[in-house]
Amino acid sequence: MRKLLKWTGLSVGSLALVVVLAVLVVYAASEVRFRRAYDEVAVAPLRTGQGNPAALERGRHLATAIAKCVDCHGADLGGKLFMDAGPLGVVYASNLTAGKGGVLARYSDGQLERAIRHGVDADGHALAIMPSADYWAMGDADVQAVIAYVRTLPPVDRELPTTNVRALGRALYLAGKLPLFPAEHITHGAPRAEPPAAGVTVEYGQYLATIGGCRGCHGKDLNGAAEGEGPGMPPAANLTAAGEVGKWTEQDFFNALRTGKRPNGTALRPPMPWALSGLMTDDEMRAVWLYIRSVPARPTPTE
Ligand code: HEC
Ligand code: HEC
Repeated sequence: MRKLLKWTGLSVGSLALVVVLAVLVVYAASEVRFRRAYDEVAVAPLRTGQGNPAALERGRHLATAIAKCVDCHGADLGGKLFMDAGPLGVVYASNLTAGKGGVLARYSDGQLERAIRHGVDADGHALAIMPSADYWAMGDADVQAVIAYVRTLPPVDRELPTTNVRALGRALYLAGKLPLFPAEHITHGAPRAEPPAAGVTVEYGQYLATIGGCRGCHGKDLNGAAEGEGPGMPPAANLTAAGEVGKWTEQDFFNALRTGKRPNGTALRPPMPWALSGLMTDDEMRAVWLYIRSVPARPTPTE
């Protein structure tokens, strides 16, 4: 009996050692990638100045209804908890103001541009979750409008803990199952197309659906996702003619984004940001609808 105890004791001990070693290896291997410096992504010599009233209004509209910065960074952009996923880790969206705990003073306009369109922070490291793969397509005038607007925000004193990706999150990240850093998936040097002129056109609708994250969540071809973004979350729906939306009218689409209800009366569940998307102007919504209607029918992915 004593022998057995000794034997199990040893094996529990060695198992614990294996676990500790595995965690250390995961931390070391992920830390190398977490700390990668994005030196090749230069800071643009961008100065937005004070911004004229029209640009500031455009910046506010982008931050709210289109690019929806407020969804993650909070209505006052003073930052908030984005997600606490237990053993995976905890992610905070930063305080973007000049208040206590805010990052604004550390960022030049050019560095803000790099954070928004490239997902790289003031020190040159990748930002977690920040949806820069969607914002990469943002035109110069729009990104400048957002920056000018952010600079006018009242300072918010809110000190948040830092984002902390835990062992399981790091292991999944190393296995390629958790796309933590949009910066890793952006072709930083690729030429950026001039954004189309604003109007009720398929092209402008596509632009809004890109920087607005519709394509980030519903897939670049809008045919939806196989799985939800997190545990308990519904998958993003197929918006092509192969999905339910294929039977919708433009009015159904407007109602869905403005009231959060489908034509059959069921509610749109999170993380679908219908309340913010519902703040798009009628013309913007029409353009997005035209674009949705223009994409070919495609089955929903199965994995
Ligand atoms: C889906 C959620 C999400 C949205 C939408 C979003 N962000 Fe972020 N953002 C984050 C998270 C999370 C971080 C912190 C990442 C980290 O700590 O690695 C972040 C970080 C940043 C940073 C760097 C701050 C720092 O701590 O150095 C800036 C600047 C920023 N965001 C600006 C914006 C702007 C402007 C918009 C809208 C155009 C926006 N973000 C939209 C999630 C989001
Ligand atoms: C953060 C991810 C996310 C973003 C961004 C997003 N969606 Fe969604 N959307 C979802 C999810 C998830 C659902 C499924 C909700 C449900 O099943 O209740 C959904 C559902 C929908 C539906 C209902 C479809 C149906 O068949 O019932 C429409 C319409 C829609 N989204 C349009 C849009 C448009 C247009 C945009 C961009 C302006 C957008 N979504 C942006 C995640 C997102």
